[in-house]
Amino acid sequence: MRTFCCSGLLYLLALNPITGWAAPQKPCKYKVKESIAPPNGWVKHTTPPADHNIVLRIGLPQPDFHVLEQHLYEVSDPYHPRYGAHLSKEEVDRLVAPHQGSVDAVNEWLSSHGITEGGLSRSSAGDWVTLKLPVRLVEEMLNTTYHVWKHDNGDRIVRTTSYSLPEDLHDHIDLIQPTTMFGQFKELKSTIVFSDDTEAPAQFKNLAPIVNAATGVPVDASCNATITIKCLQQLYNAVGFTPTHAGNSIGITGYLEQFANIQDLQSFYADQRPDALGSSFEFISVKGGLNNQTLSEAGAEANLDVQFAFGLSHPIPGTFYSTAGRPPFDPDVGTPTNTNEPYQDWLDFILSHPNPPLSISTSYGDHEQTVPKSYAQRACKSFAQLGARGVSLMFSSGDGGVGDNNPNPATQKCFTNDGRNATRFIPLFPASCPFVTSVGGTVGVPEVAVSRFFSGGGFSDYFARPKYQDKVVRKYLEALPKGTYKGLFNRNGRGIPDVAAQGDRYRIFLSGQARLIGGTSASSPTFAGIVALLNDVRLSNGQPPLGFLNPLLYSKAASGFNDITVGHNSGCGTTGFNKDGIQVTGIQSFTGLGTPNFGKLKKLVS
Ligand SMILES: *[C@@H]1O[C@H](CO)[C@@H](O)[C@H](O)[C@H]1NC(C)=O
Ligand SMILES: *[C@@H]1O[C@H](CO)[C@@H](O)[C@H](O)[C@H]1NC(C)=O
Ligand SMILES: *[C@@H]1O[C@H](CO)[C@@H](O)[C@H](O)[C@H]1NC(C)=O
Ligand SMILES: *[C@@H]1O[C@H](CO)[C@@H](O)[C@H](O)[C@H]1NC(C)=O
Repeated sequence: MRTFCCSGLLYLLALNPITGWAAPQKPCKYKVKESIAPPNGWVKHTTPPADHNIVLRIGLPQPDFHVLEQHLYEVSDPYHPRYGAHLSKEEVDRLVAPHQGSVDAVNEWLSSHGITEGGLSRSSAGDWVTLKLPVRLVEEMLNTTYHVWKHDNGDRIVRTTSYSLPEDLHDHIDLIQPTTMFGQFKELKSTIVFSDDTEAPAQFKNLAPIVNAATGVPVDASCNATITIKCLQQLYNAVGFTPTHAGNSIGITGYLEQFANIQDLQSFYADQRPDALGSSFEFISVKGGLNNQTLSEAGAEANLDVQFAFGLSHPIPGTFYSTAGRPPFDPDVGTPTNTNEPYQDWLDFILSHPNPPLSISTSYGDHEQTVPKSYAQRACKSFAQLGARGVSLMFSSGDGGVGDNNPNPATQKCFTNDGRNATRFIPLFPASCPFVTSVGGTVGVPEVAVSRFFSGGGFSDYFARPKYQDKVVRKYLEALPKGTYKGLFNRNGRGIPDVAAQGDRYRIFLSGQARLIGGTSASSPTFAGIVALLNDVRLSNGQPPLGFLNPLLYSKAASGFNDITVGHNSGCGTTGFNKDGIQVTGIQSFTGLGTPNFGKLKKLVS
């Protein structure tokens, strides 16, 4: 392998203005930037073809992020005088911009490899540099060797387990991907479970409504078997509320080439929301995300999210984002460019957008441990940027209880990925990021937290417990019998989820047919719909939107939730959290604060 100079060619050729001599070449020293153990399930397969390209993302440090974080917490704290004074895109961009010294150092390094400004793109804040390069050049620049890695399930990706950078650059670069990122498109599981039966609600016609003790609102008996828009309005005390403010908005993100079908949406509206018939949503393609409206191509996840989020919040304008990337990736045949981590593509897009939707739901997630910590931290900081700008972000908490998002306990894998292969609960990212609102699932009337699938939850191994949930989570942990699940979870980690909503037996339309579907995939768009309604209340009062929710939810708005006191989130061969005997009123780790009571919340938030 060739050796290069730390400071690059330009530095070398720069003449000293006083002596007229070229500056002496600095000795080149590479130092390992990141190194991981080969992750479970993956083995080295082959060498990538020489024409294989990598879309490399270089993350420059954000030295003022702590200032942004302070702003974020001030404008999101309902008791702070700056509550609601969200930052503009320009203010946020300025607070995450890298130092000029870092920009210069990276530029020098890139130009020493023949890369010019025209060959790269920069994020809105300049904190990410993205460029497409042949794998051989990337190997040279990072003093590493890429391999095609193969997963047990047949998936293949081009990655390395370690990469290096010139020592001088270590302080000017936070991370570079794709290198050690083994979580990949196909692993970005949609947290969704199909019902095998499509029980008709007819048999419930003659049953008396169930009175919901938490709200006093009667709930149709059929809601115990089939969830419709009407059920959610009844359960969450939003019957008869119609949003009116024109400046409101709601968004759904879609990945894995999932398309929300407009014809299905109309069938759904005819079935459950006749006043919305004829209305639709805006489609936005990110990085070439497709929108095939052939009925048979409709995606279950996309349809579920769009139908319930937009159905609940009608007539608030909705946007569906389709971010490109189609599995499986095959490096050998005709796909010379490796797909990248999709969140960052969407984040680049949305962060450069002047007016992102005010409430956004994402029903995708990865096992936290398959996402390199440095990457998870950066993505999480991007979510903070959206929060500071007044956007509320919802993420599904996962469907595997404390286990690995696999709803079948028999085949769950609960082992660390770090080479130790230790038994461990497996939290989901981005739900584990403290700057998003993670949404768990409930089922039935009255609501309980246990189901065919188990609402994901637990504690992050990457992110420390944020202050806003310190009191609640600490009390919960104190109530756990000593030694419970010792070594299986991080007692100091961020607790998941924050809130919950119904997560099973949703009646959707898919490829022209009514289907029942479930998972925390359903809970997140539902909660996002309720947040959009709350934003309407605030906007109509002349108040700013809610933005980052959690500091509000855990304080002033905490009494606006229905406690879920029954159930547990089994997984990894355990009953998970909140097993018998460790219930603490108002603090159910597995459903967070509980499910929303819109009638109460609309008073608490305005
Ligand atoms: C690159 O890494 C190899 C070991 O993998 C090492 O022997 C070599 O010295 C490194 N090159 C530089 C320029 O640091
Ligand atoms: C980790 O340990 C479990 C149980 O001991 C075993 O089933 C699994 O194959 C191990 N995985 C690796 C990668 O060693
Ligand atoms: C709802 O369904 C569950 C499970 O089938 C049943 O045990 C419960 O009694 C039902 N609730 C009501 C209020 O009918
Ligand atoms: C949409 O999908 C159908 C069925 O797979 C296919 O025949 C058609 O060419 C696709 N249309 C577009 C515009 O991609």
